[in-house]
Amino acid sequence: MRDAGLLDLAASSLTPPGATPLLAIQDLTVAFDGVPALRGVDLAIHAGEAHGLVGESGCGKSVTLLAALGLLPPTATVRGSVRLDGQELLGAPQAVLDGVRGGRVAMIFQDPASALNPVHRVGAQVVEALRLHRGLDGTAARAEARRLFDLVGIPDPTRRLDAYPHELSGGQNQRVMIAMALAGEPDLLIADEPTTALDATIQAQILDLLRKVQRETGMALVLISHDLGVIADVCARVAVMYAGRIVEQATAEALFANPLHPYTRGLMSALPDMDGPRRRLAAIEGAVPEPWAMPAGCAFAPRCGLAVDACRADPPPALLPAAGAYRPDPHHVACLRADPDHHVEPRWHTASRSAAMTRSRVQPSARA
Ligand SMILES: Nc1ncnc2c1ncn2[C@@H]1O[C@H](COP(=O)(O)OP(=O)(O)O)[C@@H](O)[C@H]1O
Ligand code: SF4
Ligand SMILES: [Mg+2]
Repeated sequence: MRDAGLLDLAASSLTPPGATPLLAIQDLTVAFDGVPALRGVDLAIHAGEAHGLVGESGCGKSVTLLAALGLLPPTATVRGSVRLDGQELLGAPQAVLDGVRGGRVAMIFQDPASALNPVHRVGAQVVEALRLHRGLDGTAARAEARRLFDLVGIPDPTRRLDAYPHELSGGQNQRVMIAMALAGEPDLLIADEPTTALDATIQAQILDLLRKVQRETGMALVLISHDLGVIADVCARVAVMYAGRIVEQATAEALFANPLHPYTRGLMSALPDMDGPRRRLAAIEGAVPEPWAMPAGCAFAPRCGLAVDACRADPPPALLPAAGAYRPDPHHVACLRADPDHHVEPRWHTASRSAAMTRSRVQPSARA
């Protein structure tokens, strides 16, 4: 566990002065049957912002948000602090957590079909969410469900309300899930790999939709993805996760213009070239270490071309403001050798990100 001084530094440096985060995760650790999966995660999500959480599969992205909402199985030991508008959620009574989930905080997942009930019409499921979270019933609930279907771009919404999940495409079911998430008028939507199961065309449409509803409703969004390209066009701030820790955090602009952590650079080099042909991309060599085989020191050292002996010494490098970073929104990095003057030619220049996203995908055709 870190000492109090370091915790204060992490908390204050991730929070722009004067702003209380909507969701403040501090020194969150999770162990499954005693094996650590999260090793001290600090994350601050502010009202109305779109925040990305990126890292390869198994880095702890889902566990971070599931732990925050009290959704992990009893085999998980969770420590640290998770506050929603100042209210502590870790260890909070079930009634408090039930009120938060689906209400102030909504979640959507990779596989909408498994989250929807196959034997109920999709409209009835949205109506049920409206009854539960907003006390709406009868005609008012159905009218609101229709409005939400319209908002999330489901064509012919009146007819689609009466469809069963199996009668809709994967993209349409994900739109239904988003409508259901919006039913509680959440302050925060957590979207965990919401497009991973969809093909490229539909993926681009769902990301457009998330961006649109986030802006129109003013809710905060945490977008979780293993794909930096997905995060690129939606999020204003990004945290990069590796082996149960945040290793870099910055505004999207700073991160894409000047990635400092060798892992982030690796993720970025796996993005498609803006102007080149579509091609199979080089992944970072090696794999994320398993939680029970975590190296001492920096967990990325076995895959890192810059590793030196000091990197392998305990404890792992702390997440600190990068040298030369400016406040109030500094660039943080957890690497002994991060060099802000080593400028990497950005493949995904922020000004061109939209264009690159469009080019790297199949052109959108009809709505999903
Ligand atoms: N219910 C669980 N029981 C045991 N280990 C788990 C459980 N859920 C996740 N883990 C482990 O925690 C680590 C982080 O998982 P996860 O957060 O799902 O990764 P990500 O979402 O980044 O792909 C992984 O090593 C995974 O195997
Ligand atoms: S601390 Fe060392 S091993 Fe870890 S990312 Fe930085 S240079 Fe690589
Ligand atoms: Mg996950």
